[in-house]
Amino acid sequence: MSERRPLISGNWKMHHNHFEAIQAVQKLSYVLSANDYDAVDVSLHPPFTDLRSVQTVLESDEIPIALGAQHCHWEEKGAFTGEVSAGMLAKLNVSLVIVGHSERREVFGETDDNVNRKVKAVLANGMTPIMCCGETLDEREAGQARDKVERQVLEGLAGLKGDQVAGLVVAYEPIWAIGTGKTATPEDAQEMCATVRNAVRGSWGTEAADSVRIQYGGSVKPVNAPDLMRQSDIDGALVGGASLDPDEFARIIAYRLVG
Ligand code: 13P
Repeated sequence: MSERRPLISGNWKMHHNHFEAIQAVQKLSYVLSANDYDAVDVSLHPPFTDLRSVQTVLESDEIPIALGAQHCHWEEKGAFTGEVSAGMLAKLNVSLVIVGHSERREVFGETDDNVNRKVKAVLANGMTPIMCCGETLDEREAGQARDKVERQVLEGLAGLKGDQVAGLVVAYEPIWAIGTGKTATPEDAQEMCATVRNAVRGSWGTEAADSVRIQYGGSVKPVNAPDLMRQSDIDGALVGGASLDPDEFARIIAYRLVG
């Protein structure tokens, strides 16, 4: 089995203006040490208006944190008021783009087909998609969680080659655990992340399944990160609220040293 390097990502959602963003990155880099970056990849996903400022801080201070975005459009350019293309993000040295977050799907009506086009646009511009999937509480209680997540994976990644799937990231985020303080148990999170990996294996083969990185997201905190990260099919975390506080986020990144 291939070695999968953990990826801890901070999704700031619609928080932090660009002044606050600069301060947060500087503080995070101050509390992290070389040790922390040794075995873990770290990415930050600020709002679009902060990207240039965060890029400048990361590059000028040589901070080994990858710059990420939260969303993009699938077209390269055109009459799409308010949208930003994957090519525009790549020009800012963005390397990871979250695609199909449940807030985009639920609040802005993104479909699996939209997500698939975005995944392809991100790859075409040399960046890595973090494709999100996850079920609602109603779907979980109706026993539909696995079917929903399998469908999101197969449709979101439809048409990709095995080596493209091998290099990307899927984030399993149960919607009922996002921002609620209710985390999935490590066992439930493991079971669903294994479902994602099996879906990849079924359509793209064992090599892609062994290499694709699968994150868990939903109320990840310093206290629950170690148990979640110990699960065999969990290769990282997509962190919302706790990534806004540099101290808290740094403690999640250092999950190996706790417990
Ligand atoms: P919280 O960590 O705030 O629950 O958010 C999770 C999330 O949606 C990350 O993308």
